[in-house]
Amino acid sequence: MAFLQRKKILIGVTGGIAAYKVASLIRLLIKQGAEVKVIMTTSALAFITPLTLSTLSKNKVLVDFFDQKSGEWTNHVELGLWADLFLIAPLSANTLSKLAQGTSDNLLVATYLSARCGVMVAPAMDLDMYKHPSVRKNLETLRLHGVTVLDAGTGELASGLHGPGRMIEPEEIREKILAFFDTKKDLVGEVFLITAGPTQEAIDPVRYISNHSSGKMGIAVAEEAARRGAKVYLVLGPSSVIVDVPAVTVIPVVSAQEMYEEAKKIHPDATCVVFSAAVADYGPAEVSAEKVKKSDEHLTLVLKKNVDIALTLGKAKNTDQIHVGFALETENEAENAGKKLRKKNFDFVVLNSLKDEGAGFKTDTNKVTYFFSDDTRLVTDLVPKKQIAVQIIDLIKKIRDKQEKE
Ligand code: PMT
Repeated sequence: MAFLQRKKILIGVTGGIAAYKVASLIRLLIKQGAEVKVIMTTSALAFITPLTLSTLSKNKVLVDFFDQKSGEWTNHVELGLWADLFLIAPLSANTLSKLAQGTSDNLLVATYLSARCGVMVAPAMDLDMYKHPSVRKNLETLRLHGVTVLDAGTGELASGLHGPGRMIEPEEIREKILAFFDTKKDLVGEVFLITAGPTQEAIDPVRYISNHSSGKMGIAVAEEAARRGAKVYLVLGPSSVIVDVPAVTVIPVVSAQEMYEEAKKIHPDATCVVFSAAVADYGPAEVSAEKVKKSDEHLTLVLKKNVDIALTLGKAKNTDQIHVGFALETENEAENAGKKLRKKNFDFVVLNSLKDEGAGFKTDTNKVTYFFSDDTRLVTDLVPKKQIAVQIIDLIKKIRDKQEKE
């Protein structure tokens, strides 16, 4: 079956020995029915000829803004809009740095900056380059911008060294591309605002008050919504979990107040809001400018209540907006979840209990009870958080479909 029928894939090739693998990748994609166009950097020309790639892709290979022969201008904006997916493979450390910085000195990076489609990159570089903090930081920046990074594999490298840095194989890239297109896009037009992760409330420049949230639950919801076509804004407290899906715009924050400020800006445009963050309810009334010194046996910290983001935005909720809350309880769970549902104006609440092993903070799994505004409930088994995310999105979709019928 041609699973990529009518899918438009733009491939950016940068200078690296792995450029030769692009020839077989193009063949694999064409075989699946994809339409492929190729942009090369001038460095890539030293590794594989445009003639090979244009013959395989059945399209002219683009390198410069201007075609020297015809004098024609290549419109990078049009290219970026044409593609359903922009894959940059192999991605060199040099081009990676340009993408992360927004440098626009060649056709490939200009197209990246104007592309509205999902972007995937397959880095390929030598072992020590790949491990270098600057490269790690640039890859992290790309991830924060919603780019899917296809992590390099481990093996023998062109330098003779052995380790991570090899571009993943064309067959593996094809699988990632198939997975990218293989989702129902039933959330196109929806704009999601998702809060996730913990918040950190500074005591002094060294210490803070926080909680054990990893961000995994909220990130899973954000990724599922984005996969299904929604525009997603993820306001994320300090988290080391990687957001791996294109179209998720990550807004990193630290404190509850910052999370509120960012969420408040997006809220008027959001059609669905999921409050999965574990927001610190209290923070130090005053932040010491200097490190608090160890002196007396006891130290008294005066705390003040933080803004309740869900409660405040719940008051501003319009009739078309869907708000989903979480509740993390250790006692009187059902009663407290029900109270939060009404008080914070949620359409439904996802209750997770710290009493259930494998549920709540940090785990890859969760076991939840959904509380709906008509007093009905739904209890799940212990399943991966990604599966809970699918359920939450399905429930939101059901509410939306019902609203549209009414
Ligand atoms: O991040 P993980 O490690 O994957 O863990 C996931 C999780 C356990 C953090 C998540 O599933 C979860 O339960 N999040 C909400 C935890 C929580 O703060 O619950 P709460 O009962 O205190 O708050 C109720 C609701 O109000 C929540 O939707 C919360 O986001 C929101 N809230 C709370 C306080 C506050 N100041 N502002 C808020 O918006």
